[in-house]
Amino acid sequence: MSQSAVLDGAAPPQDLAAVSDSLFRRDMLACLRERPRRISPKYFYDAEGSLLFDRICELPEYYPTRTELGLLTRHATRIAQLIGARAEIVEFGAGSLRKIRLLLDALEAPARYLPIDISGEHLAACAATLRGDYPALEVTPVVADYTRRLLLPAVTGPGRRVGFFPGSTIGNFTPDEALRFLTLAAQTLRGGGLLIGADLVKDPDVLHAAYNDAQGVTAAFNLNLLARANRELGADFDTGRFAHAAFYNAPLQRIEMHLMSLCAQQVRIGDECFDFAEGESMHTENSCKFTIDSLRALARQAGFEPGPVWTDPQRMFSLHWLRAPD
Ligand code: AVI
Repeated sequence: MSQSAVLDGAAPPQDLAAVSDSLFRRDMLACLRERPRRISPKYFYDAEGSLLFDRICELPEYYPTRTELGLLTRHATRIAQLIGARAEIVEFGAGSLRKIRLLLDALEAPARYLPIDISGEHLAACAATLRGDYPALEVTPVVADYTRRLLLPAVTGPGRRVGFFPGSTIGNFTPDEALRFLTLAAQTLRGGGLLIGADLVKDPDVLHAAYNDAQGVTAAFNLNLLARANRELGADFDTGRFAHAAFYNAPLQRIEMHLMSLCAQQVRIGDECFDFAEGESMHTENSCKFTIDSLRALARQAGFEPGPVWTDPQRMFSLHWLRAPD
């Protein structure tokens, strides 16, 4: 029987799913009513969107995943020394099994793995796989929104509690959200640390290609948001009348993704009708890029003590060890 934990004071898992459905409705309606139109990228990740994101990670143009995997592989021994024996690993988001396996394989007798994710189903699947592969590891999935204050089960062993937040997901937060997330993480991980991946500022052409891949997978990922609204909210978006648009906003050091209306049109959700002018867009994602110094400054502001940083020879991506003081 799988042991799982729930965020203190939160609804049970099945209710979390219902709550997240109604949040999608609320946020999509708010997006359509406001100008400029924008919505959180967290709504990309229904089952279809998660599969598309897995495909993005394999694309030749999308360098972050393979570069971070390379860093984790190359520096595993040093990372394991910093984390120490019998650690408890808290992963913010039940992400790539490949990445967590690399970390677990490097560690000395990791005691427990606590993946935190809003999707109970996805969590249960990851947990079952890891339990099979690591019989000595206690796996405690936590169904929760990791951007909120967490009350995790008490540390059970003598090791430290260490967070893992790979993939540069920090870049999808607004600057305020990123600071809040890191501040809460520094409190949750007191006495331990955080291993975090952050994509770096680089040649805009490389960035442009990574978010405008030749096979159109990123376009499908972006457009799936409209398809999801049709499936879940009864909206009538014609996905053929919107185009994926992604570009590098150099002053703000971020890739912006938008869904652009290809013509003047109306979209309906329930009783409400929304006008789109030709060329009008919905802003669906920011993917902020960092310098090593900007990430370290942000971490310091949040209460961490920045430690070693690893990067690849082309300085495409960075992996940071951040100590969380007692
Ligand atoms: C999950 N996140 C870090 C990805 C990124 O690169 O910002 C999401 C993504 N969007 C388009 N491609 C990948």
